[in-house]
Amino acid sequence: MTLPMGNIISARFGKDDSCALKGYRADGGYDAYLAAIHGKKGTPDDITAMVKASGLKGRGGAGFSTGMKWSFVPKNTGKPVYLCVNGDESEPGTFKDRQILELDPHQLLEGVGITCYAIGAHTAYVYLRCEFRDGIRKTEAAIKEAYAAGLFGKDIDGSGFDLDVHVHIGGGAYICGEETSLLNSIEGVRPYPRNKPPFPAVEGLWSCPTIINNVETIANIPHIVKHGAEWHAKLGHPDDPGSRLWCVSGHVNTPGVFEIETGYSLQELIDGPCGGIRNGKRLKAIIPGGSSSKVLTANEVEKTTMDTPGIRAMGSSLGSAGIIVLDEDTCMVQANLNLMRFYAHESCGQCTPCREGTPWVVKILERVASGHGRKADLELLLDIAHNMEGRTVCALADGACWPLTSIIKKFRHEYEAKIQQGPEADAGTTAGASAPVGAA
Ligand SMILES: Cc1cc2nc3c(=O)[nH]c(=O)nc-3n(C[C@H](O)[C@H](O)[C@H](O)COP(=O)(O)O)c2cc1C
Ligand code: SF4
Repeated sequence: MTLPMGNIISARFGKDDSCALKGYRADGGYDAYLAAIHGKKGTPDDITAMVKASGLKGRGGAGFSTGMKWSFVPKNTGKPVYLCVNGDESEPGTFKDRQILELDPHQLLEGVGITCYAIGAHTAYVYLRCEFRDGIRKTEAAIKEAYAAGLFGKDIDGSGFDLDVHVHIGGGAYICGEETSLLNSIEGVRPYPRNKPPFPAVEGLWSCPTIINNVETIANIPHIVKHGAEWHAKLGHPDDPGSRLWCVSGHVNTPGVFEIETGYSLQELIDGPCGGIRNGKRLKAIIPGGSSSKVLTANEVEKTTMDTPGIRAMGSSLGSAGIIVLDEDTCMVQANLNLMRFYAHESCGQCTPCREGTPWVVKILERVASGHGRKADLELLLDIAHNMEGRTVCALADGACWPLTSIIKKFRHEYEAKIQQGPEADAGTTAGASAPVGAA
């Protein structure tokens, strides 16, 4: 079966000059936004209800209902409301938001405008990591064009609605993608994640109600407002509807970003658009939701559908839909070590279990990988993970524990073989180990 490639978010990606306002407007761009701010799509609460009914779930990782989140913004507090768009995109194996920023930034900005109208915000921050130079340049240019065309600013198109949109450039730390850390980063203080509650919708930026949504989430909004909640609710899997930008990296012939509705087979994604496993090899495993999710074996992949319920049924999570593919030659000890080095490096150090646990895990994995592991090391690793998971301020530590423990549990024999064989094992069994996990 050929997978139907989506044409919603990525519909304009290949077009000439796809970032220019002229082309975007010619394709009907900003029509939904202008209709919304003129009240032609109902009240702001009606738009929130529409987004809720559409079934749209956040594309940043946690998969929370977008409309539901918007409905948590308290009314009449006398404080300003803010929208922060999360374009930090540092999750290993995830590179979809970058495509939107570089190939169709006005789609995102139209979503920003509609979202601000719905939640009662008049200021939006688009938070982008500093490495996204092209995306920053194009988003800033698009904002400039939107102001010049009277789409942002004061009394937009005579509607009485005011909106200012700013780009905020982050320093490139993974932790700044965590929503409360992102708020601290914008405020100019050390970006430690905050304890929740209070949740940002109630007390966020400068203690004011704030909605934080992922770039891809917001890019969906113009399409939902244009075509209606029912249209979106019927796309793909009924419990997790919509079209997603699937990022596939690792050992496939054609890695990349593929827009496909939810509900299709994961195996078909690998065999079809991704051209199968490279060099004619067999699949060993995938990590489905960016690196912060539990590994799935080749057998499990065969039974998995590309949607939250399907991946959850296999015991993992869909996260950011960044699918990291590992072939039969991958050493799962090295792959785990590679990932854990990332988490140890990116831990912000605020909580003891994460600050101390992640480098300790790296130290043990290094000795196992080099053939100097001890019999008790596997139980020790699982015990450390047990003492990290659910015991920290943010989910970075959980995100480290999920691949760590699932890889050990599902590929335990590889760890045991390394420990049994001793140092000489290192040379012979790590083929493919140096391939960067999550690199496209
Ligand atoms: C360590 C960590 C890093 C994160 N990085 C990102 C990120 O780069 N982009 C993103 O949208 N969400 C990221 N998230 C999730 C955000 O905290 C938040 O759930 C998301 O931005 C909400 O948007 P959504 O509801 O549209 O998904 C991260 C979470 C954690 C714990
Ligand atoms: S879990 Fe780790 S990254 Fe998150 S706040 Fe604690 S120390 Fe920082």
